[in-house]
Amino acid sequence: MNRDQLENLFDMTGRVVVITGGTRGIGRALAEGYAQAGARVVVASRNKDACAETESHLRAMGGEALGVAADVGDLEDVGRIIERAIERFDTIDVLVNNAALGGQHTVGTFTPEEWETMFHVNVRGPVFLMHAALPHLKSSPHAAILNIISAAAFLNSRWFPIYGPTKAALLGHTRAAAAELAQYGIRVNAIAPGPFATDILMSEPEEIQRFTAAATLLNRIADTDELIGPALLLTSDAGSFITGQVLMVDGGMVVAR
Ligand SMILES: NC(=O)c1ccc[n+]([C@@H]2O[C@H](COP(=O)([O-])OP(=O)(O)OC[C@H]3O[C@@H](n4cnc5c(N)ncnc54)[C@H](OP(=O)(O)O)[C@@H]3O)[C@@H](O)[C@H]2O)c1
Repeated sequence: MNRDQLENLFDMTGRVVVITGGTRGIGRALAEGYAQAGARVVVASRNKDACAETESHLRAMGGEALGVAADVGDLEDVGRIIERAIERFDTIDVLVNNAALGGQHTVGTFTPEEWETMFHVNVRGPVFLMHAALPHLKSSPHAAILNIISAAAFLNSRWFPIYGPTKAALLGHTRAAAAELAQYGIRVNAIAPGPFATDILMSEPEEIQRFTAAATLLNRIADTDELIGPALLLTSDAGSFITGQVLMVDGGMVVAR
């Protein structure tokens, strides 16, 4: 590391970052953060108009961007995200698996279809997106994969008998992939967010929001921008010796348990 260039540790200039679900919530904040750090950003979500709007928004911020309408629960779409990114930018340096389905279920009543749908979007999609991106990541000198999991992977809450296991599964795969891909210089890490102010949580009654905030040591719900720094740390040169890790960005929610 060149200490004369400390200010460049988080610089992403010219790097191509693919973010699933970059149109709303945490993914949108990450897309903006990467664009501000100089990256060329590809966002993918199911909503075509939202993809087009996000692409224009990121361009208006002065960056290069591409929006791809795709469902990560569909394996053909997963392949298409990478094809479109390569057509447009010719390379991929960073993959951020952010898109996921949330939702509460009850043990004993959820259906096989609910189980399958959530596993397809939250685990199968990210895993095969990693596969599809791999040939391109292998030729990047800055390759990193970031999987957004959840504090729910550690809390074993009775309300999340599918969501929690999907995130725990993606953490398990993150560690296996880190071990396998280290030989190519590809780093693979996860972030486990606690409560962030996105649509799902902010549409809940105030009482639930207060209860959720109180479950963190910091006694609040985080702003989505508070995930930009942790994501940049794990995917830029600042985190060049970090792999196979999960970074808790949960305001101390899990240790408070
Ligand atoms: N917010 C929190 O408090 C919190 C806490 C812990 C973990 N997380 C994790 O953080 C990540 C982002 O959460 P968020 O709260 O920002 O979610 P969000 O506000 O619901 O946004 C989800 C994003 O993913 C996209 N998406 C959803 N399903 C998709 C699919 N099948 N294919 C492609 N795109 C899809 C959505 O766009 P479309 O609907 O247009 O497809 C949207 O852009 C998720 O992995 C979530 O599990 C969030």
